[in-house]
Amino acid sequence: MSQPRLTHARLEGANVIVRPIRREDAPLAFPLIHAQTEIIKWLAWSGPADEAELAEAYAQWNLGKDDAGANYRFAIETPGCPFVGAISVRFEGHPGLGDVGYWVAARHWGRGIGTEANRLVAHLCFVHLGARAMTATVYLGNHGSARLLEKVGYVREVDAHGVPLVGRPTDLDQDSWTYGLTRYDFQRASAGWTPREETVQFKGA
Ligand SMILES: CC(C)(COP(=O)(O)OP(=O)(O)OC[C@H]1O[C@@H](n2cnc3c(N)ncnc32)[C@H](O)[C@@H]1OP(=O)(O)O)[C@@H](O)C(=O)NCCC(=O)NCCS
Repeated sequence: MSQPRLTHARLEGANVIVRPIRREDAPLAFPLIHAQTEIIKWLAWSGPADEAELAEAYAQWNLGKDDAGANYRFAIETPGCPFVGAISVRFEGHPGLGDVGYWVAARHWGRGIGTEANRLVAHLCFVHLGARAMTATVYLGNHGSARLLEKVGYVREVDAHGVPLVGRPTDLDQDSWTYGLTRYDFQRASAGWTPREETVQFKGA
Protein backbone atom coordinates (compact mmCIF):
# COMPACT_ATOMS: atom_id res chain seq x y z
CA MET A 1 0.00 0.00 0.00
CA SER A 2 1.47 3.37 -0.90
CA GLN A 3 0.84 6.32 1.37
CA PRO A 4 0.37 10.01 0.67
CA ARG A 5 3.72 11.78 1.00
CA LEU A 6 3.95 14.67 3.46
CA THR A 7 5.65 17.88 2.45
CA HIS A 8 4.87 19.65 5.75
CA ALA A 9 3.24 18.83 9.07
CA ARG A 10 2.97 20.97 12.17
CA LEU A 11 0.75 19.85 15.02
CA GLU A 12 0.22 21.77 18.23
CA GLY A 13 -1.08 20.41 21.52
CA ALA A 14 -1.62 22.12 24.87
CA ASN A 15 2.11 22.39 25.65
CA VAL A 16 3.94 20.80 22.74
CA ILE A 17 4.45 21.46 19.05
CA VAL A 18 5.86 18.92 16.61
CA ARG A 19 7.14 20.22 13.29
CA PRO A 20 9.66 19.12 10.64
CA ILE A 21 13.18 18.97 11.98
CA ARG A 22 15.70 21.14 10.15
CA ARG A 23 19.43 21.69 9.79
CA GLU A 24 19.17 24.84 11.93
CA ASP A 25 18.03 22.74 14.93
CA ALA A 26 21.45 21.10 15.24
CA PRO A 27 23.18 23.81 17.37
CA LEU A 28 20.41 23.60 19.99
CA ALA A 29 19.98 19.83 19.75
CA PHE A 30 23.64 18.77 19.85
CA PRO A 31 24.41 19.64 23.50
CA LEU A 32 21.11 18.05 24.56
CA ILE A 33 21.92 14.67 22.99
CA HIS A 34 25.70 14.39 22.54
CA ALA A 35 27.21 12.01 25.13
CA GLN A 36 23.98 12.08 27.13
CA THR A 37 24.19 8.47 28.23
CA GLU A 38 20.91 8.55 30.16
CA ILE A 39 19.19 9.20 26.83
CA ILE A 40 21.39 7.32 24.37
CA LYS A 41 21.41 4.06 26.33
CA TRP A 42 17.72 3.71 25.45
CA LEU A 43 18.08 4.50 21.74
CA ALA A 44 19.01 2.31 18.75
CA TRP A 45 21.48 5.11 17.86
CA SER A 46 24.70 6.07 19.56
CA GLY A 47 24.12 9.79 19.07
CA PRO A 48 25.89 12.25 16.76
CA ALA A 49 29.70 12.41 16.65
CA ASP A 50 29.61 16.16 16.09
CA GLU A 51 27.24 18.98 15.31
CA ALA A 52 27.94 18.80 11.57
CA GLU A 53 26.83 15.16 11.47
CA LEU A 54 23.62 16.06 13.28
CA ALA A 55 23.01 19.02 10.94
CA GLU A 56 23.42 16.69 7.92
CA ALA A 57 20.92 14.25 9.37
CA TYR A 58 18.46 16.98 10.33
CA ALA A 59 18.68 18.57 6.87
CA GLN A 60 16.37 15.79 5.69
CA TRP A 61 13.20 15.46 7.72
CA ASN A 62 11.41 13.33 5.13
CA LEU A 63 13.02 10.18 3.73
CA GLY A 64 12.07 6.98 1.98
CA LYS A 65 10.45 5.92 -1.24
CA ASP A 66 6.83 6.85 -1.81
CA ASP A 67 5.68 3.36 -2.79
CA ALA A 68 7.59 1.70 0.06
CA GLY A 69 6.52 4.11 2.80
CA ALA A 70 8.26 7.25 4.02
CA ASN A 71 10.00 8.20 7.25
CA TYR A 72 9.53 11.54 8.97
CA ARG A 73 11.56 13.25 11.66
CA PHE A 74 10.09 16.00 13.85
CA ALA A 75 11.46 18.50 16.33
CA ILE A 76 9.61 18.84 19.63
CA GLU A 77 9.06 22.41 20.81
CA THR A 78 7.42 23.85 23.91
CA PRO A 79 6.36 27.45 24.53
CA GLY A 80 9.56 29.46 24.75
CA CYS A 81 11.82 26.49 23.90
CA PRO A 82 12.38 26.01 20.16
CA PHE A 83 13.92 22.55 20.59
CA VAL A 84 13.47 20.14 23.51
CA GLY A 85 13.68 16.77 21.74
CA ALA A 86 12.90 14.78 18.62
CA ILE A 87 10.40 12.20 17.48
CA SER A 88 10.45 10.15 14.30
CA VAL A 89 8.04 7.79 12.62
CA ARG A 90 9.17 5.22 10.07
CA PHE A 91 6.95 3.62 7.48
CA GLU A 92 9.65 2.54 4.99
CA GLY A 93 9.37 -1.16 4.26
CA HIS A 94 6.04 -1.42 6.10
CA PRO A 95 3.61 1.18 4.73
CA GLY A 96 0.60 1.54 7.00
CA LEU A 97 2.57 0.52 10.08
CA GLY A 98 4.33 3.45 11.73
CA ASP A 99 7.24 2.75 14.07
CA VAL A 100 8.07 5.59 16.48
CA GLY A 101 11.30 6.61 18.20
CA TYR A 102 11.79 9.68 20.40
CA TRP A 103 13.84 11.46 23.02
CA VAL A 104 13.34 14.48 25.27
CA ALA A 105 16.20 16.49 26.80
CA ALA A 106 16.72 15.41 30.41
CA ARG A 107 16.11 18.88 31.83
CA HIS A 108 12.55 18.73 30.42
CA TRP A 109 11.59 15.27 31.64
CA GLY A 110 8.47 14.71 33.70
CA ARG A 111 6.40 17.55 32.22
CA GLY A 112 4.27 15.45 29.87
CA ILE A 113 6.24 16.50 26.80
CA GLY A 114 7.06 12.99 25.54
CA THR A 115 3.45 11.87 26.02
CA GLU A 116 1.96 14.81 24.15
CA ALA A 117 4.50 14.59 21.32
CA ASN A 118 3.57 10.92 20.87
CA ARG A 119 -0.15 11.74 20.87
CA LEU A 120 0.39 14.36 18.19
CA VAL A 121 2.37 11.96 16.00
CA ALA A 122 -0.13 9.13 16.48
CA HIS A 123 -2.91 11.54 15.49
CA LEU A 124 -0.96 12.54 12.37
CA CYS A 125 -0.42 8.90 11.43
CA PHE A 126 -3.97 7.65 12.01
CA VAL A 127 -5.89 10.70 10.80
CA HIS A 128 -3.72 11.96 7.95
CA LEU A 129 -1.41 9.15 6.86
CA GLY A 130 -3.86 6.26 6.91
CA ALA A 131 -1.83 4.20 9.39
CA ARG A 132 -3.36 0.87 10.38
CA ALA A 133 -1.24 0.60 13.52
CA MET A 134 1.78 2.04 15.30
CA THR A 135 4.63 0.22 17.03
CA ALA A 136 7.47 1.13 19.38
CA THR A 137 10.41 -0.89 20.64
CA VAL A 138 11.44 -0.22 24.23
CA TYR A 139 14.59 -1.65 25.75
CA LEU A 140 13.90 -3.76 28.78
CA GLY A 141 13.87 -1.61 31.91
CA ASN A 142 12.94 1.69 30.25
CA HIS A 143 9.96 2.19 32.53
CA GLY A 144 9.52 5.88 31.71
CA SER A 145 9.10 5.17 28.00
CA ALA A 146 6.84 2.19 28.71
CA ARG A 147 4.62 4.30 30.94
CA LEU A 148 4.48 7.06 28.35
CA LEU A 149 3.39 4.63 25.62
CA GLU A 150 0.73 3.10 27.85
CA LYS A 151 -0.70 6.56 28.55
CA VAL A 152 -1.01 7.11 24.80
CA GLY A 153 -2.83 3.77 24.50
CA TYR A 154 -0.04 1.45 23.34
CA VAL A 155 -0.24 -2.13 24.52
CA ARG A 156 2.73 -4.39 25.22
CA GLU A 157 2.96 -7.61 23.20
CA VAL A 158 1.35 -6.31 20.09
CA ASP A 159 0.80 -9.71 18.57
CA ALA A 160 -1.69 -10.54 21.31
CA HIS A 161 -3.80 -7.69 19.95
CA GLY A 162 -3.56 -8.67 16.32
CA VAL A 163 -1.36 -5.79 15.27
CA PRO A 164 0.83 -6.79 12.32
CA LEU A 165 4.47 -7.21 13.24
CA VAL A 166 5.83 -6.43 9.76
CA GLY A 167 8.85 -4.18 10.06
CA ARG A 168 9.49 -4.97 13.68
CA PRO A 169 13.22 -4.83 14.37
CA THR A 170 14.57 -8.34 14.91
CA ASP A 171 18.28 -7.64 15.23
CA LEU A 172 18.37 -5.65 18.44
CA ASP A 173 21.19 -6.75 20.67
CA GLN A 174 19.21 -5.98 23.81
CA ASP A 175 16.05 -7.54 25.03
CA SER A 176 13.15 -5.25 24.37
CA TRP A 177 9.43 -4.82 24.79
CA THR A 178 7.40 -4.31 21.65
CA TYR A 179 4.42 -2.04 21.95
CA GLY A 180 1.55 -1.67 19.49
CA LEU A 181 -1.18 0.89 19.10
CA THR A 182 -4.37 0.32 17.18
CA ARG A 183 -6.60 3.15 16.05
CA TYR A 184 -9.22 1.87 18.49
CA ASP A 185 -6.84 1.87 21.46
CA PHE A 186 -5.61 5.35 20.54
CA GLN A 187 -9.13 6.76 20.32
CA ARG A 188 -10.09 5.14 23.59
CA ALA A 189 -6.98 6.39 25.44
CA SER A 190 -7.21 9.91 24.04
CA ALA A 191 -10.98 10.37 24.29
CA GLY A 192 -11.79 14.06 24.13
CA TRP A 193 -8.26 15.00 23.11
CA THR A 194 -7.42 16.63 19.79
CA PRO A 195 -4.55 18.82 18.64
CA ARG A 196 -5.21 22.52 19.11
CA GLU A 197 -3.98 23.22 15.62
CA GLU A 198 -2.72 21.12 12.75
CA THR A 199 -1.27 22.04 9.38
CA VAL A 200 -0.63 19.07 7.12
CA GLN A 201 0.40 19.34 3.46
CA PHE A 202 0.93 16.59 0.92
CA LYS A 203 2.97 16.19 -2.23
CA GLY A 204 0.92 17.10 -5.29
CA ALA A 205 -1.82 18.74 -3.19
C1 LIG B 1 11.10 8.42 27.75
C2 LIG B 1 11.08 9.92 27.65
C3 LIG B 1 10.88 10.34 26.19
C4 LIG B 1 9.91 10.45 28.50
O1 LIG B 1 9.77 11.82 28.24
P1 LIG B 1 8.99 12.78 29.28
O2 LIG B 1 8.70 14.04 28.57
O3 LIG B 1 9.73 12.87 30.55
O4 LIG B 1 7.64 11.92 29.49
P2 LIG B 1 6.35 12.38 30.28
O5 LIG B 1 6.62 13.56 31.14
O6 LIG B 1 5.28 12.50 29.25
O7 LIG B 1 6.09 11.15 31.26
C5 LIG B 1 5.52 9.95 30.86
C6 LIG B 1 5.17 9.11 32.09
O8 LIG B 1 6.28 8.30 32.43
C7 LIG B 1 6.50 8.40 33.84
N1 LIG B 1 7.90 8.12 34.09
C8 LIG B 1 8.96 8.87 33.71
N2 LIG B 1 10.10 8.26 34.09
C9 LIG B 1 9.73 7.12 34.72
C10 LIG B 1 10.43 6.03 35.32
N3 LIG B 1 11.76 6.02 35.37
N4 LIG B 1 9.72 4.99 35.84
C11 LIG B 1 8.37 4.99 35.78
N5 LIG B 1 7.64 5.99 35.22
C12 LIG B 1 8.33 7.03 34.70
C13 LIG B 1 6.05 9.80 34.17
O9 LIG B 1 5.82 9.94 35.55
C14 LIG B 1 4.79 9.89 33.33
O10 LIG B 1 3.72 9.18 33.92
P3 LIG B 1 2.61 9.92 34.84
O11 LIG B 1 2.03 11.01 33.98
O12 LIG B 1 1.65 8.85 35.17
O13 LIG B 1 3.32 10.50 36.03
C15 LIG B 1 12.38 10.57 28.21
O14 LIG B 1 12.57 10.11 29.52
C16 LIG B 1 13.60 10.23 27.37
O15 LIG B 1 13.92 10.92 26.41
N6 LIG B 1 14.29 9.12 27.77
C17 LIG B 1 15.50 8.72 27.07
C18 LIG B 1 15.25 8.27 25.63
C19 LIG B 1 14.17 7.21 25.52
O16 LIG B 1 13.96 6.41 26.42
N7 LIG B 1 13.49 7.22 24.37
C20 LIG B 1 12.46 6.23 24.10
C21 LIG B 1 13.05 4.99 23.53
S1 LIG B 1 11.82 3.70 23.38
